Amino acid sequence: MGKDKTKIKPKRVADIPVTKPFMPPREEYSELLKGVWERIWLTNNGPLVQQLEEELKSKLDLDHLLYVTNGTIALQLAIKALGLKGEIITTPFSYVATTSSIVWEGCEPVFVDIEPERLTIDPHRIEEAITEKTTGILATHVYGLPCFVEEIEEIAQRRGLKVIYDAAHAFGTIYKGKSLYDYGDISTASFHATKLFHSVEGGAVIAGNPAIQEEIHHSRNFGHAGPENYFNVGINGKNSEFHAAMGLVNLRYIDQVMDKRKEQSLLYRSLLGHTPLRFLEVPPDTDYNFAYVPVILESEEKLLQAVDRLKKNGISPRRYFYPPLHQLDYVKRTPLQVVEDISRRVLCLPVYQELSGKDIERIAKLVLG
Ligand SMILES: Cc1ncc(COP(=O)(O)O)c(C=O)c1O
Repeated sequence: MGKDKTKIKPKRVADIPVTKPFMPPREEYSELLKGVWERIWLTNNGPLVQQLEEELKSKLDLDHLLYVTNGTIALQLAIKALGLKGEIITTPFSYVATTSSIVWEGCEPVFVDIEPERLTIDPHRIEEAITEKTTGILATHVYGLPCFVEEIEEIAQRRGLKVIYDAAHAFGTIYKGKSLYDYGDISTASFHATKLFHSVEGGAVIAGNPAIQEEIHHSRNFGHAGPENYFNVGINGKNSEFHAAMGLVNLRYIDQVMDKRKEQSLLYRSLLGHTPLRFLEVPPDTDYNFAYVPVILESEEKLLQAVDRLKKNGISPRRYFYPPLHQLDYVKRTPLQVVEDISRRVLCLPVYQELSGKDIERIAKLVLG
């Protein structure tokens, strides 16, 4: 008999990857799926999707939240709903989806440099980049740490611009007593499997303005206002009962997950804090979610040596974010000093639920060399 060509060989993953999705007890997920089999309601704003929206709002103390397919669609829905056109001022230090969604929506990303301590968009650079074509600002709460939201808000108000926060990393961070999702005209979340809180794939749009909420409520569902009429131009931005079920079960464990992340991050800090490596400071008034463990090395050379040592030992850190987005082929390039320097030297160290203290000690030793 010939070889079974349908069998796909799984790729070998590193012994310690940069992250691993949290997996809840399978029985709890299966239990929720029983209802899906009974109802045969698989998607299209099903009861589990609605329940997840309610539970997320209650957990994060939000008035409004729309669960969507993923964090990228969330960004595209946000840009469209705010009617952004022309130029959008944005950060070069983020994941590619922040930029590609601007381009996808037919707008032009205008990159300004980041602030060297927090690595979020530098508000001082925003003002000088505004032209008569600018309609909005799209900034990322990098690694779940807040942008300079007051300064950005002040500029946006004064210059008549809309603000979208890519809050893909911000689940659970509280700034000045409220969820980081609750800033800007719209915030977008990602619940991708690699995120602190996940529903395998998934995302959310959080908008304060009821008219914008209504716009996105319809646009995520093809624009339907009823079976035969349409409210606006839409897209398929819905999510399924299977994803919502995963989100609901994971939400039961999120406090544990967050406590563990904090403990692991603090251990990394205690092991590497008084070395030439730099950790990011948590800004005042911030209850941080400790979603990532980024460290900034002294030089790119040192970073590459550390990566090499880690990889030889079956450990995969991630150069996150590298390269910076203003160097993408499909955008207008401008030199930006701070981000070009930082992105060469920043490394995200492994962090996930099962990672042990011993592993962290081993990783720390290898990083130092
Ligand atoms: C900063 C940032 N923005 C947007 C996204 C896109 O989210 P998603 O993967 O859910 O589409 C991600 C993550 O993947 C991200 O890290």
